[in-house]
This record gives sequence, C-alpha cells and structure tokens, in this order.
Amino acid sequence: MKTRIASRVGQLPGYPLAHIPRRKRELIAAGVDVIDLGAGDADVPAPKVAVDAVTEAMKNPAMHRYGFQLGLPAYRDSIVRYHQRRFGTSLDPMSEVVPLLGSKEGLAHFALAVAGPGSVAIVPEPGYACYIGGSICAGAEVHIAQLRPENDFLVELGDLPRDLLARTSVAFLNYPNNPTCAVAPRDYLERTVAVCREFGIALAYDNPYVELTYDGYVAPSILEIDGAKDVAVEFHSCSKTFAMTGWRLGWAAGNRELLAALNTIKTYHDTGAFLALQAGGAAVIDRTEEQVKPLLAIFKSRRDAAVSALRDAGFEVPVPKACMYVWIPLPEGVKSAEFAGQTMEDQGVIVLPGSAFGPSAEGYFRIALTVSEARIREACQRIGRVLARV
Ligand SMILES: Cc1ncc(COP(=O)(O)O)c(C=O)c1O
Repeated sequence: MKTRIASRVGQLPGYPLAHIPRRKRELIAAGVDVIDLGAGDADVPAPKVAVDAVTEAMKNPAMHRYGFQLGLPAYRDSIVRYHQRRFGTSLDPMSEVVPLLGSKEGLAHFALAVAGPGSVAIVPEPGYACYIGGSICAGAEVHIAQLRPENDFLVELGDLPRDLLARTSVAFLNYPNNPTCAVAPRDYLERTVAVCREFGIALAYDNPYVELTYDGYVAPSILEIDGAKDVAVEFHSCSKTFAMTGWRLGWAAGNRELLAALNTIKTYHDTGAFLALQAGGAAVIDRTEEQVKPLLAIFKSRRDAAVSALRDAGFEVPVPKACMYVWIPLPEGVKSAEFAGQTMEDQGVIVLPGSAFGPSAEGYFRIALTVSEARIREACQRIGRVLARV
C-alpha cells in the first residue's frame, strides 16, 4: 500500500526561496556571473566577539550536552540586560524569555502554541512565510491582511470585523517590515495592543530588524507599549542584527503564559540551541550597540548605492528607513515573477518577486543588501536592462 502525506503539506503555499539555490548553482556552473540579492543573508562576517566566545565555550565539555529549553542562563541574562538597556523594559529571565533556534523556529512553533482548528490567525501579506506556514500547520483559519502602500503598509486590526477579531487567537505583525521596509509609529502600536487586549488576541510581534534602522530612526520594542505584556510575545534574532544567520539563534520575550505554551510545544520539537552558540550569543548581545554600528554603516552605504543606481536605471524607489532590503515598485502591468525570472535568467541577478510574498504583493520586487556596494551597483544596472525591455 502507498504511504500517505498529511493534507497540511499540500495546503502550504510554495516557499518563496525554495527553488533558487538549485537554479543559482546551475547558472554558476554554466559560467554566469551571478549576483544573489535574494535571501536576507549578508556577506558580512559574524562578530569576532561572538566567534571567540564560542571557540572558548567549545573547549568546555559541559557545553556539548543537551541545552534543553532552559539553555544557558547567561544567554537569558544578556537578553534581559539588552531589553533593559535598549528599550527600558524589565523581563524575568526564566519566565519572560525563551531561547530560540532562530526566530523562524519560534514563530512557527508559536502558531502551534496559540492557534488551532476553530480559531483565526491574522497573517500580513506580503509577509515572512513562516506566519502562514505555522498557522496552516496548526490547523487555524488564516485571515490574510493586505499591506497596502496607501495605509503605509500597516495592518489596522481595529478596522477588521468584530466577529473576526472575536474568533482570532493570534495576529502576526512585523515592523520594521520585511519586505516593505515599513516602520510602525508608536500610536499605531498602542492601537494594536488595545485591540489585542480587548479581544484576547496573542500578538506575535516579529522584530528581527529592530536594530537595522537609518537616518536617525530608532525602532521600538512592542514591550515598550503600556499593557503589551498582557498579550504580546516579541521575536528577536541574532541573524540580522549581528550577521549571524547560520547560527540559528534568537529569542522570544514577553507574556509569560504565552511563552510557557511556546516552551511546552518546543519541548516536543527540539532540545534547545547548542550551548556553546548561546555563549557566543550572550557575548555579542551584551555588546549590541557597539557591534551594530559598523554593520549599519555597511547597510546604509549599500542602501544608498542601491537607491541611486535603481533611480538611474529608471525605477521610482522610496528610500527605506529600516531593514536590509529595498522594496521596489514595478511599472504598471509588469508581472513581478516574469520580471524576476528575466533578471535571473538574462542578467544573472537574483531578486525576489512580490508575488513570492503573496498575490497582493504583485507589482513589486525586493532586493537584499547582501553584497558589496560595487556589486549592488552592477546588479542594479543589470536589473535596469530588464526594465528597459519591458
Ligand atoms: C521578518 C522576518 N522574521 C523572521 C526571520 C527569521 O530569522 P531567523 O534567522 O532568526 O530565523 C526573517 C528572516 O529573513 C525575517 O525576515
């Protein structure tokens, strides 16, 4: 008899980046000079302070044992100090922090912890794919909330029907936003927390780009908002803040009951991040402000190079205030998947089409600022050649 696959697998939408690594390898093998601006995975080395701390920790046999969900207490303590220093918020290290194997893992597992059949998960589109993926795996009904430029790419929960909100168990929000680079004003966050408190909605606030902001803009933590801790869990990541994507290290912080539920789910799915990596994380999180400065300078000069080269090529590009992306509108009627297909196949430049983030993101494409300024300029010129032909 043939084996069966669970129906949830078929319900998952195609993952935006799934086919790219294979095609990239084929193009490189065929001699194409590929510039990959697809995944948000910068070419910047991880901070020395983190690498040194891991190297030292690796020599300690105790670090090679299971981490379990408790993990390394020093990692939790560094997170608590960071939130206090940076946002002025207090957290209990044991009950209000959960170490994660990257924030993606935490977000997807959070859906399993709070949503299920009979409840609604509000998912922004365009948005990071694990919100919808986790919600579908949890069996929840997904309500897509479209991010529109005329609304500054904000999801106004209070504008949704009250009967929908009454059935909603979780809302995923992400500002500074991937892929639109939108940021959330404080009064918007206050309104959002108020709606979540009124309807008992768990607010999964995904904040991996909180440190990647420019031109004087400083992004807040949702936990700065009065009453947020009643409903919110904020997801942080070492991936973008410190260029440590491969380490798979992040954390969740906020409401203790929600975090206890996440912890329970995780107990059955993983046994914690490698303790030596958590030692590296603790070392670097304690030096966030100093470590982030040079990285920000790199991303800012890449952003400026990208915006000016794209404008020279004929695109109308807003200057992003945050993140490591540029979200670029295409001329009316140009299909983003076709456009991205041409930049890859004809020009060897990998970009992400808006449609990969969901149908309502049609009409845009995203570049990630993951290579040098010179390569970004070169890539934007090549993208401009495709624009000239459409
Ligand atoms: C909005 C958003 N959330 C979460 C993540 C996942 O980050 P991590 O590497 O911590 O899993 C990403 C990665 O691109 C992201 O863009």
